[in-house]
Amino acid sequence: MARPDFSMEHLWLPFTPNRSFAQAPRVFVAAEGMHFTAHDGRQVLDGISSLWCVGAGHKRRPINEAIKRQLDTLDYATAFQAGNDQAFLAAEKIAALAPGDLNKVLFCNSGSEAADTSLKLALAYHRARGEGHRTVFIGRERAYHGVGFGGMSVGGIPANRKAFGTALLPRVDHMRFIHDPVHHAYIHGQEPVWQEDPLLELEQRILPLHDPSNVAAIIVEPVAGSAGWYIPPQGYLKRLRQICDKHGILLIFDEVITGFGRMGTAFAADFYGVVPDMLNFAKCVTNGVIPLGGVLCSDRLYESLMNAHAASPAHAIEFFHGYTYSGHPVACAAALATLNLFEEEQLFARAGRMGTVLGDAMHAALQGLPTVVGIRTLGLAGAVELAPAASPGQRAYQVFMTCFQNGVLVRPAGENLVLCPPYIVEAAQIEQMVGVLAAAIRQHA
Ligand SMILES: Cc1ncc(COP(=O)(O)O)c(C=O)c1O
Repeated sequence: MARPDFSMEHLWLPFTPNRSFAQAPRVFVAAEGMHFTAHDGRQVLDGISSLWCVGAGHKRRPINEAIKRQLDTLDYATAFQAGNDQAFLAAEKIAALAPGDLNKVLFCNSGSEAADTSLKLALAYHRARGEGHRTVFIGRERAYHGVGFGGMSVGGIPANRKAFGTALLPRVDHMRFIHDPVHHAYIHGQEPVWQEDPLLELEQRILPLHDPSNVAAIIVEPVAGSAGWYIPPQGYLKRLRQICDKHGILLIFDEVITGFGRMGTAFAADFYGVVPDMLNFAKCVTNGVIPLGGVLCSDRLYESLMNAHAASPAHAIEFFHGYTYSGHPVACAAALATLNLFEEEQLFARAGRMGTVLGDAMHAALQGLPTVVGIRTLGLAGAVELAPAASPGQRAYQVFMTCFQNGVLVRPAGENLVLCPPYIVEAAQIEQMVGVLAAAIRQHA
């Protein structure tokens, strides 16, 4: 077959401006460690862990070997009415890492599926307990929970919602966003302290409006990732937990980005000392190598669903939900190898240490540059926010393109540029990515 010319004749790229892509194709053909090889032979530094996935870096031998071994042992087995050994082992390992009584794992294949699974589980749980009227979901402005109809409905990024109108779930509300651009434009490794209480709106307006007894669940990203790394005010998640407990509302943490090390801890739940009722994960669980997602849920939630069926016949299914590839043996083997590698190389702790290096570098190099209006760093991630140009997101897109041309992959998110490198990143590579980003910001000011 001839080498493709990247003409866009057949391939439709997701979340990408397809019309302009062919003029400047960005195509990877190989990767190793911190770097990609692009189609033109250039090396590109992966400053975003390939969309928050590749915590351990690219082409890690123990993970690849585990996948090859698994393919030669049990390639696939039906997920319904049977299990496979790798799914049991992976679930045990993930539950052991999880805080509190989050001990049950329902596998799926992506973060979007995890979002919809957790929302359906919330409805099934309340119904099983005789509270089927609890059908209201509460998300947050600018949240991202994937692209399924459930996740999109509780999500709050306007561009992701505007074309889908009445197809969004009814009975969904959104809490206000967690950013104060006046007092907390610059956050360096700490939790911002707000003078006002951003959860008063939930308590005094949203919950009374729907009546708390009708609310099934509140879903939040502990740190708002896709919107551009926005950090919750001090005490926010603890108070959210208290409000949920007070009203019998389930609390769901979407840790698709923050799970498995990004904050320097296994989960953001550990970082903030708050245990949700469900915790959604994907991405880093297999180092991005093979699709796998899941929902960790509490023993209490699981037991309630099982107990509700105590009198049902033995063949009755308790939760009518699942995917053909739930707990795929190859994906679960990859997860086991990934989590073992994280442990052996102590990569979560390393992410925490390198997060300080990244935060220091971003604040030192980017603060005061023309058009920069904010910098937020926490864990091994940071965002620099730019003043908008003529069209929303235009300046960040141009900066992203220039960084790519100069050998660094960064992530444009609205008016932000985000850096979230693999946990194996070295200080010199952080210097390189921040330096390239600073030059690109100057160029497009
Ligand atoms: C918090 C969060 N939830 C869900 C998703 C969706 O995951 P996926 O793209 O695997 O469906 C993402 C993706 O970035 C995410 O950041």
